[in-house]
Amino acid sequence: MSANLKYLSLGILVFQTTSLVLTMRYSRTLKEEGPRYLSSTAVVVAELLKIMACVLLVYKDSKCSLRALNRILHDEILNKPMETLKLAIPSGIYTLQNNLLYVALSNLDAATYQVTYQLKILTTALFSVSMLSKKLGVYQWLSLVILMTGVAFVQWPSDSQELDSKELSAGSQFVGLMAVLTACFSSGFAGVYFEKILKETKQSVWIRNIQLGFFGSIFGLMGVYIYDGELVSKDGFFQGYNRLTWIVVVLQALGGLVIAAVIKYADNILKGFATSLSIILSTLISYFWLQDFVPTSLCSSMKDWV
Ligand code: C5P
Repeated sequence: MSANLKYLSLGILVFQTTSLVLTMRYSRTLKEEGPRYLSSTAVVVAELLKIMACVLLVYKDSKCSLRALNRILHDEILNKPMETLKLAIPSGIYTLQNNLLYVALSNLDAATYQVTYQLKILTTALFSVSMLSKKLGVYQWLSLVILMTGVAFVQWPSDSQELDSKELSAGSQFVGLMAVLTACFSSGFAGVYFEKILKETKQSVWIRNIQLGFFGSIFGLMGVYIYDGELVSKDGFFQGYNRLTWIVVVLQALGGLVIAAVIKYADNILKGFATSLSIILSTLISYFWLQDFVPTSLCSSMKDWV
């Protein structure tokens, strides 16, 4: 049963990550009139959807009884403030991480950022070994290094992107690099910390996700206020939302649920393999189907070898 859940959750994660990347890319190519949606509000909406979905799942687990649901939410969340507070740590780190990635993307070209961010595969393994006492053999470490190198190659900047990156100053490249490197450590730590909480305490994964979403919404609202407060008071919270925005937001919320299930039934290291597979899948779909992926000089020289 739990082996089935492990592979099911990993499979859904591959599907979810691939469709999110492709939908986001598609939404960027669409030309819309009026203001664009604010990503800071999308983060909050996704957190709220995640909480609603988790409340429904807890309701289903309590045999669809409203009284039982009410009791569980009271007993497990309101009456255990210290347990609930534990989730403020990964939630705060994830918020910081999302902001660091924003800094990284403003100072580095997208491809360099993606390649460097793959280092999180190794930081995740390091935290899993030190915080969860996981044992990795030489072959497992070696396969992680091969995985990281392979994914980095898939995302290697194309020649035109290399030209773009030359326009960024060395100073700002350094700031971007520091931001993405810090994000690699925060991603590894937050993921493994969440895994430790899930596997070492008895609260269900859905209760833990409600707690995570609660803090996520608070931190997210603070982000809306700080970054887009003026725009929201002028054109409203949902400015620029269209059907595609809602699809992206729902896919993001689904992502939070699936990531939690993957961490519970598999682990963070396997999550790294699943998201890597989805990077390769979305690159292939984008090359053969959307025809918007340009092979790099590295790919061309590989073609010369075969
Ligand atoms: O890059 P990384 O794999 O660390 O990103 C994890 C993402 O998953 C974060 O944006 C975090 O907000 C989200 N997450 C979530 N719910 C969880 C665990 C992670 O939404 N239970």
